[in-house]
Amino acid sequence: MGTPNWSNQTMWTGDNLPIMRGMNTASVDLIYLDPPFNSKHDYSAPIGSKAAGAAFKDTWDLSDVDLAWLLDFEKNHPDIVKIINATLVDSDKAYLIYMAPRLLEMRRILKSTGSIYLHCDPTMSHYLKLLMDAVFGRKNFRNEIVWCYTGPGNAKRWFPRKHDVILSYSKEDAWTFNVDSVRIPYNKLSYQHKHESNTGIGGKLTPDNMSRYLDAGKIPEDYWLEDRDKMSPVGRLLRERIGYPTQKPLALLDRIIKASSNEGDMILDPFCGCATACVSAHNHNRQWAGIDISSKAYTLVQERIETGGGMFYSLNQRFDIPARTDLGRLPRYNCKENKQKLYGEQDGNCNGCREHFKSVNLTVDHIIARKVGGTDHISNLQLLCGHCNSVKGSFGMEYLLWKLGSGSSHPYYKPGFPHYPSSGYVVEEEQRQVVESH
Ligand SMILES: C[S@@+](CC[C@H](N)C(=O)[O-])C[C@H]1O[C@@H](n2cnc3c(N)ncnc32)[C@H](O)[C@@H]1O
Ligand SMILES: [Zn+2]
Repeated sequence: MGTPNWSNQTMWTGDNLPIMRGMNTASVDLIYLDPPFNSKHDYSAPIGSKAAGAAFKDTWDLSDVDLAWLLDFEKNHPDIVKIINATLVDSDKAYLIYMAPRLLEMRRILKSTGSIYLHCDPTMSHYLKLLMDAVFGRKNFRNEIVWCYTGPGNAKRWFPRKHDVILSYSKEDAWTFNVDSVRIPYNKLSYQHKHESNTGIGGKLTPDNMSRYLDAGKIPEDYWLEDRDKMSPVGRLLRERIGYPTQKPLALLDRIIKASSNEGDMILDPFCGCATACVSAHNHNRQWAGIDISSKAYTLVQERIETGGGMFYSLNQRFDIPARTDLGRLPRYNCKENKQKLYGEQDGNCNGCREHFKSVNLTVDHIIARKVGGTDHISNLQLLCGHCNSVKGSFGMEYLLWKLGSGSSHPYYKPGFPHYPSSGYVVEEEQRQVVESH
């Protein structure tokens, strides 16, 4: 298993995709994510609240995402393309194209015993479950948890929508699950009934054993209730509320973290908002890291931990992309050995247009640019001909494939798409200078 290439209690400000690309493989024990839900709302915290200034957009269209990802999925993850094609409207497609590469990275950085909990709501949960099946494997599906709550609403033509959905998957077939740490009391009637009828696990029990068994409590079902489980939406939890839109209750994160991790484990929340998962991890002696595109997250977690009495901690704020340390000492990316090996692997063809060239006419190129988390490892290198190299220019490989592969006839292409350069893409030349200067 890998080890994290970042310190405990790190909070990144930035887009989580390049940051996760820079994280070591198999280095995280538990991931909780509560991404934008495609709710068609834009959120901002009330002026005057501690979270004022925090805002995020949750409306999607195809111009928001790198459509060229699709070409990468077509080549490497055909199941994901099937799921994206199953959506009926562009905003849902766009949302899944945005989520898919991030979920793939999350799978890579999870340890083999790790688990992931994806918090969403019925707007997209049906599509996200398909996407999770495609990324994590259907056999690794563990639970669809329904978090039920009440609250004001003015639905008159349908039943008020008052639940969220949390999809949990393990990475493989042996995973951490501390069932005894999250038991809850039996309800009165069931306790009494079991006591009187003396039916415990394994048949009849002595009165003493029966009492012990009942006192230990039961494993909560996959529906979590506001009153029984003390998981009110944060709007009503005055003690916790800091005004961050979509803030989640600590009790909900406490249950997930206690069940699916052990003390000392590394927990990651890549869409951490006001960092509820990080605060819960901190309170339960886990290591943690959070990422949020808004810089508010950093100030909020700092305040939350300090007010919670977390005196002995040092919070690291980072803006950079971590450099992976699990790839060994890498040779210069364009060294002769890499070139020869790639030439053999690609049968002497350019990786863009597929034309056959002499080795001297092909240049070594990064598939994912270094500035967005791509490494010098040979798995992230390829040979391109001069033409393809110049078409790709400042953009990602997805852009080149899109340009070469489909142009305006791509099924999702509409005038004005895609909008390049998108955040994170850098001029390849710039990258090379970075490499040169090292
Ligand atoms: C639903 S909120 C998370 C709320 C959080 N669970 C809490 O309890 O406060 C989603 C968060 O994702 C962040 N976000 C959106 N896109 C992101 C991206 N690409 N990378 C990192 N964070 C992102 C938003 O700024 C927002 O804070
Ligand atoms: Zn070419």
